[in-house]
Amino acid sequence: MSTDAAISEANTDAKRAEVQDLFSRTFQGIAPNAIPAVKDDRLYAPLVLRYHDIETGQLAGAALTCRSEVAVGMTMMQRLEYAPVLDRHSVLDLMAVAPAFRGRGIGSALVREMEDRLKERGVRIWFGNATRDLETARLREFYARHGFTVLPDGQPLPDLLGRSWVLPTAEQPAFFFYKQIKKS
Ligand SMILES: CC(C)(COP(=O)(O)OP(=O)(O)OC[C@H]1O[C@@H](n2cnc3c(N)ncnc32)[C@H](O)[C@@H]1OP(=O)(O)O)[C@@H](O)C(=O)NCCC(=O)NCCS
Repeated sequence: MSTDAAISEANTDAKRAEVQDLFSRTFQGIAPNAIPAVKDDRLYAPLVLRYHDIETGQLAGAALTCRSEVAVGMTMMQRLEYAPVLDRHSVLDLMAVAPAFRGRGIGSALVREMEDRLKERGVRIWFGNATRDLETARLREFYARHGFTVLPDGQPLPDLLGRSWVLPTAEQPAFFFYKQIKKS
């Protein structure tokens, strides 16, 4: 079976709960509702992908990309500044591969599949950050290998699509990364 066939979307709350379990095992202190509920999909426009190991059926990896907090906040306040770019951006928020499955290309397959699906949706700019608690040197290489511009430590994310995406109150991550998704 190809890697594509092992990837599917978590489009129900039950499937997302399994992904949340994997994220909770991987990241210390993440919110129990880090993945938006299906009822809120119109607001967050999430894409939650899962990778199942073909032999065991185990959930080996998963990733979440969705609208930025800034854009969601503005929308909830019925402010229109971000309305034109709501469907043009996405934030790669969380991605995890279970330790036993790392280094086999599963994370890479998830990134490629997310990018294809975001492109189909019309997303043009994809970005995120790595927090200091992670293995940031290896992550820099990972994102760079996937065509992201990886900013030096501490450098702020530039305006993208003419908008600022980082709340001034947000905790400073180790680094930001971003890439343009080109129409094919
Ligand atoms: C980052 C991660 C999703 C990559 O998944 P993967 O299936 O191992 O990735 P691939 O096999 O496609 O690529 C391997 C590359 O991933 C990166 N990587 C592997 N393990 C990693 C780890 N524990 N931490 C950070 N990056 C790692 C390295 O760049 C590695 O290349 P290298 O072996 O030459 O150093 C996975 O390692 C992971 O879940 N890490 C912990 C959580 C995390 O940092 N998530 C990303 C931020 S939300």
